[in-house]
Amino acid sequence: MELENKIKDPFKRPVISLRISITGRCNVKCLYCHHDGILPQDYEMTPDEIFQIAKIARDIGIEKIRLSGGEPLIRPDIVEIVEKISTLGFRDVSITTNGTLLERYADELVKVGLNRVNVSLDTLNPETYQFITSKDYLEHTKKGIQAAAKAGMNPVKVNMVVMKDLNHDEIWDMFQFCKKNGAVLQLIELLKTESCPDTEFIDQYHYEMDDLEEELAEISDKVKTRAFMQDRKKYFVDDGEIEIVKPMDNTEFCKNCTRLRITPDGKIKPCLLRNDNLVDIIGAIRSGETPEELKRIFIDAIENREPFYDGC
Ligand code: 5AD
Repeated sequence: MELENKIKDPFKRPVISLRISITGRCNVKCLYCHHDGILPQDYEMTPDEIFQIAKIARDIGIEKIRLSGGEPLIRPDIVEIVEKISTLGFRDVSITTNGTLLERYADELVKVGLNRVNVSLDTLNPETYQFITSKDYLEHTKKGIQAAAKAGMNPVKVNMVVMKDLNHDEIWDMFQFCKKNGAVLQLIELLKTESCPDTEFIDQYHYEMDDLEEELAEISDKVKTRAFMQDRKKYFVDDGEIEIVKPMDNTEFCKNCTRLRITPDGKIKPCLLRNDNLVDIIGAIRSGETPEELKRIFIDAIENREPFYDGC
C-alpha cells in the first residue's frame, strides 16, 4: 500500500477506509451493541446517495469501503447498493453483518462485487445466543457463514465479542467451527461507549484478554502485527487464524486508526468513540453542491480528526 500519497489527518494518520452505516435498524438486539458509535435512529439514505458518498471517498483516495448498520442485509436494496459501490473500483468492498440473512444473499453479493464479510457470532450455544441477541437465529447465522465461504468471500471473519462467564470458555469451540468452515476467528474486547444501551452489562461481562494473548503467543506457530490495522495481532495456530481487537484504553487503537465513518443519516463521523464532531455531508449532496465542494467537506472533516485516547 502506497501510504506516502495518502490523505492524512493532523496526527499523520492516513485515512484508508470508510465505514458506511446504511441503516440504524437491526433484526437482533445484542445486549452490548454500541451501534457503531451512533445513537440508534431510523433514518436511511438512498442507494444513489450512498453511491455519491462512496464516490467522493474514492476521489480523495480512500481505498476500502465497509457497509455496516444496524444490520445492512435487512435493506431490500442491499444488492443494488453493493453493485453501485463496486463500480467505483475500490480495493475492497465488505459488509459487517449478523449473518442471519447471509445465506439468502451470499451468492448474489459476490456476483455484484462483495469481496469479504465479517459476521457477528459470539457463541455456538443456543441459550447463550438467545440471551445475548434475544432471538433464536443461531442456525441461520451458522448457515450464513458457511454460505459466505462457499460463495467465495475471502476472508470470512467471525467477530466474537468475548464476555466473562458468558462465552469466554467457548473460544476454542468457536476456533474449531471457524477452521472447519473456512473462516477466521476475530476475538473482540467488549467496549463501552456512550452509545451502548446497557453499561452495567458491559462492566459485568468485560473480559480482560491479556492472559489469553499470552497463551496464544505461546502456542502459535507465527504472530503477525498488522500495521495500520490498529496494530492488531494475528496468531497462526494449528492451521487456523485468530485475530485480537482490543480498543479498551488502548492508545495504539487510536494511533493507528485509518477509518472514517458515515452515519445512517449522512454525517461524517471521524471517531468511533465521539459524537461531538460529526460533519454533515448529505445536506450538501442534496442541495447539489459541486464535486469540489463535496470533496472539501470531506477533507475538512479529516483535517479536524483527533485521537480519542490521550498519548496518541
Ligand atoms: N464492544 C465490542 N464490539 C462491539 N460491537 C458492537 N458493540 C460492541 C461492543 N460494545 C462490534 C462487534 C459486532 C460488530 C457489529 O460490532 O464486533 O460483531
